[in-house]
Amino acid sequence: MDEERLLSPDADENDKSLEKSLRPRYLAQYIGQDKVKQELSIYIEAAKNRQEALDHVLLYGPPGLGKTTMAMVIANEMDVQIRSTSGPAIERPGDLVAILNELEPGDVLFIDEIHRLPRVAEETLYSAMEDYYVDIMVGQGPTAHPVHFPLPPFTLVGATTRAGMLSAPLRDRFGIISHMEYYEEEDLREIVLRSADIFETEIVETGAVEIARRSRGTPRIANRLLKRIRDFAQVQSDGVINQQIADQALRLLQVDEAGLDYIDQKLLKTMIELYHGGPIGLSTLAVNIGEERETVEDMYEPYLIQKGFIKRTPRGRMATPLAYEHFNYPYQA
Ligand SMILES: Nc1ncnc2c1ncn2[C@@H]1O[C@H](COP(=O)(O)OP(=O)(O)OP(=O)(O)O)[C@@H](O)[C@H]1O
Ligand SMILES: [Mg+2]
Repeated sequence: MDEERLLSPDADENDKSLEKSLRPRYLAQYIGQDKVKQELSIYIEAAKNRQEALDHVLLYGPPGLGKTTMAMVIANEMDVQIRSTSGPAIERPGDLVAILNELEPGDVLFIDEIHRLPRVAEETLYSAMEDYYVDIMVGQGPTAHPVHFPLPPFTLVGATTRAGMLSAPLRDRFGIISHMEYYEEEDLREIVLRSADIFETEIVETGAVEIARRSRGTPRIANRLLKRIRDFAQVQSDGVINQQIADQALRLLQVDEAGLDYIDQKLLKTMIELYHGGPIGLSTLAVNIGEERETVEDMYEPYLIQKGFIKRTPRGRMATPLAYEHFNYPYQA
């Protein structure tokens, strides 16, 4: 079994087919993220009343929280088509123009990982977002000239794990900026129950609570754990997921009592055992656990900070007394 893949909040091919069937389609079915939903529902209703395209939306937050899902929900609520691409998929401005060219009035253009859009393509987006046109250079050398290319009104929905990496001119062109937060246990419980229902898996309340509690605040992880625990319940007992079965399966998957996964644990233990709790630089930490710096910063650290296991200081990251306590190490300040 490959723990690293299982516990990463990033999507793999298995997730993609799984997620299709589990994705809520409308705001009313979208569980949690109340603040984001409330805001969006107002803007969506207003735009629909005026029969205009919705203002451009930037969704940011850690992976697996439902940004792609929300982009699709926005398109469904606006009753328009969605075209999807991602920052790294666009290499030249021409790639972007080709996609823009396909848009119908009011459509949603979803750009995932928008912080990885190449600079030249980003500049093409400015006029597209602001005034619905692009100027494309035609010809080469002395005969090169710009051609003005009008676009229908559309809504750009950008998703990013790091709003800080977006250039100011791009960020400023989003009228709606929504921060997605880690989910409350209560919301994850609901998500687990809903997914179990779709899977036609029997689960008791306490089983759902156990999975919710140990899913790192992340629906993608909750769904993935549910799927594994379902298999476990089928093989090890009568197929019903209760708290005991969930707990046994989660132990097997190396998800601990606090819901920390194998890499979270490795990261904290490295800080404590090798660096006396820090301060330790992010790059050093990443090298030590064999992950990319960016992965640690986007995926692992935010949750550990929110849960109070790590704190950021000007000199680096430090393990908190809570982290020591969690692994039963004596704490010395
Ligand atoms: N509010 C929700 N209610 C129910 N299921 C949800 C909700 N949000 C997300 N999910 C489920 O969680 C999974 C991950 O969602 P999604 O792919 O939208 O995440 P994401 O934020 O785009 O992640 P990434 O940043 O990795 O692209 C999907 O299976 C989706 O169905
Ligand atoms: Mg996504």
